[in-house]
Formats: sequence, C-alpha cells, structure tokens
Amino acid sequence: MLQKFPAFAGVQGPVVVIVMDGYGIPRHEVGSAIDAARKPTLDRLFAQYPNIVLRAHGTAVGMPSDDDMGNSEVGHNAIGAGQVYAQGAALVANAIAEGAIWQGEAWQQIVAGAKTGANGKAGVLHFIGLFSDGNVHSHIDHLKAMVLRAKEEGVPTVRIHALLDGRDVPETSALDYVVPFEAFLKDISTAGFDARIASGGGRQTITMDRYDANWPMVARGWRTHVLGEGPQFASATDAVHGLREKHPGTIDQDLPEFIVAEDGRPIGTIEDGDAVVFYNFRGDRAIEITRAFVEEHFTAFDRVRHPRTTYAGMLQYDGDLQLPKRFLVAPPAIKDTSSEWFSKSGLAQFACSETQKFGHVTYFWNGNRSNKFDGETWQEVPSDVVPFEQRPWMKAAEITDAMIAALQSGRFKVLRCNYANGDMVGHTGNFRAATMAIEAVDLALARLLPAIDAAGGVALITADHGNADEMFELDKKTRQPAQNKDGSYKAKTAHTLNPVPLILYDNVSGGKLGLKPLETAGLSNIAATVANLLGLHKHDKWDDSLLEVK
Ligand code: 3PG
Ligand code: CO
Repeated sequence: MLQKFPAFAGVQGPVVVIVMDGYGIPRHEVGSAIDAARKPTLDRLFAQYPNIVLRAHGTAVGMPSDDDMGNSEVGHNAIGAGQVYAQGAALVANAIAEGAIWQGEAWQQIVAGAKTGANGKAGVLHFIGLFSDGNVHSHIDHLKAMVLRAKEEGVPTVRIHALLDGRDVPETSALDYVVPFEAFLKDISTAGFDARIASGGGRQTITMDRYDANWPMVARGWRTHVLGEGPQFASATDAVHGLREKHPGTIDQDLPEFIVAEDGRPIGTIEDGDAVVFYNFRGDRAIEITRAFVEEHFTAFDRVRHPRTTYAGMLQYDGDLQLPKRFLVAPPAIKDTSSEWFSKSGLAQFACSETQKFGHVTYFWNGNRSNKFDGETWQEVPSDVVPFEQRPWMKAAEITDAMIAALQSGRFKVLRCNYANGDMVGHTGNFRAATMAIEAVDLALARLLPAIDAAGGVALITADHGNADEMFELDKKTRQPAQNKDGSYKAKTAHTLNPVPLILYDNVSGGKLGLKPLETAGLSNIAATVANLLGLHKHDKWDDSLLEVK
C-alpha cells in the first residue's frame, strides 16, 4: 500500500487524468490547428486554472536523444509508470552498437533457421517492418545492421518487406528511404548473397493495424508478404513511382500494396523453413501480424497457408501474453506502475478510450501488459474504420458519455481517458479536420468537467505528445514553417517536439492546490501528482510530484 501523504489529505471525490492525444503547446501560430480551433473551454482552463508545461519528447520519455519526438507508447508508459525507462529505440540501438544482439539466442536461432531451411534447401531470411528512420516503431539503421550481419554469418538470401511510412516522417518521403536502400542492397549482393526488397505497401493499408481495429488490413499484409499477391513491379523504387502515378495525391502511409517480381513470379514469398524478423520495436502495431505468424490455431482471417518459420520480434511486444516467445532484444522491464500501486492501495480505477487509443490507456499505461490489476475496469468505445479526416470528432462524445456514467456510478476513485482526436486527425495532415478535432475535444471537456465537479473530484488535463500543434513541416535550419515556392505550406503528418500542457482542474480545494513549474517537469511526474491528489505518498520509484500545497 502507498503511505499517507502528510501535506494533503486528498480530495473527497475522484481524481481524473484526461489525455488529449497529440495536443502540444504550439510554437508558431502558422500551422497550428490548436491556435486555429475555437476552444472556449480550453481557453478558460488555461486562463483560470493552474497550468504548467511538461516535456514529452526525447530523453524525458526514454528516447535515445532530444531530437526524437515523443510518441504514444513512450508517453503513456511514462504517465502510467511515473518513471522513465530506456525505451525500445534506445535499447535496440545499444544492443546493436555493443553487439549484444548478435550473441543472443534469438538472433542465432534466426540465422540457424534460415541457413538450415527445409527439405534440404537453405531458407530465406525475411525482415518485415516500418521502413523509415521515424524511431517511433522502428529505425531503418537497425534493419541495415541486421542485413549486414546476416551476410557476414552466411545467410544466402535476404528479403525485405517494406512498410512505407509517411506518418512519423514527411508524408511523401518513401523514395528517400527506398532508393538508397535498394542501392545499398545491390552493392552488398554478391554471387553467394542475394538481398532485395520483395514486397511492401503503405503502413495504414497493410499489416500495421493495432488493437484489433481492422483485421482485414493485416490479412491484406499477409497476402502481400507471405503469399506474394498484389500488383507486380520490377523493384520497390518502381513500385512507389507506379503506385503514385496510379493513385495521385495518395500519401505514403495510404499507398496500396506492391510485389517485386521477376518473369511474373514474386521474388520473396514466405515459405516453410524460412526465418522471419519483424523489426519494429514498438508493440501495438506488431501484435496482430505476429499472432498470424506464431499461432497454430488462428481464426482472425484465413491464412490460406501457414508456413513453418523461425519467427522473432525485435522486442517482446506483450509481457503477459509472452508475444512473441522469441525476440531479439529484451523490452524495458517496466515495474511498479501507478495502476499496480493504486490497485494495491485498494482504489477502484476506470480507464476508457476508443479502439485506436484503447491500448494506450490500458496496455501502455500499465507497462505493456494486457492484463488488468485488481479493481481496474476498462471500457473500449469502438472506433470508426474510416480515414479520420472524414470524422474528426471521432468518438469524443461517446468516451465522454462513458466517463460521465463512470463518475456518476460513484464506483471509481481514479479515472483516466484518452481523446484520440488531435493525434489521429493530426496524422492525416488535414489542417481543417485537425482544427475540428481540437474543437471536438473542447466540446467533450465542456461536458465532462461539470460531471467531475458534481462528483467532488479534480482533473489533470494533459497530453502524451504534440501533433495538431504543428500541421506544417518546419524548415530544418530555421525551425519555422517551411513555404513552398508558391507560398503554400507542406502538410506535416508526424508528431512534434513541443512540450504539452498540464492543467489542474480543481474547484474543490479553495485555491489550496497548485502546480510547480519545474523546468525539468515531464510526463513521468504525473503519477506522483495523482497520488498526492489522492492523499497518498508517491511510490519510491516514481519521479517527483508537481503538486504544490499552499
Ligand atoms: C502511429 O502508430 O499511429 C504513429 O506511428 C504514432 O502515433 P502514436 O504514437 O500517437 O500512436
Ligand atoms: Co500519433
């Protein structure tokens, strides 16, 4: 149990943490959907309630450097755990730099599996993953290191299945990665070593679904990578050109699938005796395709055939489900999360979001674990399966309904929710829709906050990282929104490096409570702040509370 906090006995009612996904503090008015939005509730909160800024990117959330933007995995891990761990991006980079990855049993089994193959024939080593340097789900340098090592260790054939990004990197940057990589592969291929890109497609079209939102996307990826079904091209570079010609205006993440073929035959289907590495380190969008490879009895879609492969994930994606069993680098061992300790302190907790962010407030929040702690109730609101610029309001109203019902039930002492709008619509690059997304969140807050008042509670309103705050690409040198020659701006789909707000919505303490504006304050300080609002001491491992008791 957490100890009592001597300075404050705790609020009578519940403590609510509201995550406005993708809501950073804008640095420029130009390109900020947040500035452009009409948001009277948020304006009032910023004007009348204690609020500070939190660091939500780079080393403050366990990324390798401060040039790395934040993302929902590391953000929700930090909020939920109250601690900062070296995250997948850093762990993999270190394991490669130090060579530890190659000594691991998993890598050795992958190499041995590919070399042994099946039916007296060597197998192929396949790498499937997000093909960019976004460092949110993957990094192309990790792929490069593994291909080189595979060659060194005598694997004869390597095939790469490249998921085009344009969501964590500029929206039409695919060729910046594909062209040099195909040149690199050509360069290192010799008589005894053949490495090529074999298939691919936009990450929002195939393979990288999450939270069971859209299994047909994963089925389409399976048919592409494993069965080799799809439009054929001579190379991945040709494919990107060809698909762009056929689908003008389609940004990388939404491009359809492609197959690289020779004489009408795909060059890299996945067969019995092959080895497969899914090289994303982040779990949410890796779990479904991993299940398709490793589960014996699998019913989510018809696999047509299920090749017997040696399969490894870059990391283990779910500690509770042990998925997958074989992984190249051990994931961060996230322990003593706030959910665990609030549970051990006998507090009933409620978590809610829509499908797209449901795992963020449950699985990521609880340290990449899919099981609940005692006393936790989780509610998922099914997301629409549409491009979100078509429905920028998403399920903000329904999440609010669920939160209000949970508050009115009187059953819960600690509640949390995530409004996905600023992020999911921000990722489309559609400025107008992102403005509406922020307005939808504002409207939701206008309904939710009175229900918190009625329950005698308080709220911490924050975000996991920025996105809608910067909808235009910045010039690399000036860090100002970059203008095209015709004066227009280039749409930006990725997250930002901006800090996020932390607002204390408190109508119960009579002005006794405030927030400390520490320069180092970050997302990992929220858990201890919640504990103090509950009248509890933080866990020893958690970063300091930001609560000021006057
Ligand atoms: C995604 O997976 O949609 C993006 O790569 C990152 O977005 P998130 O970190 O907000 O989920
Ligand atoms: Co995002």
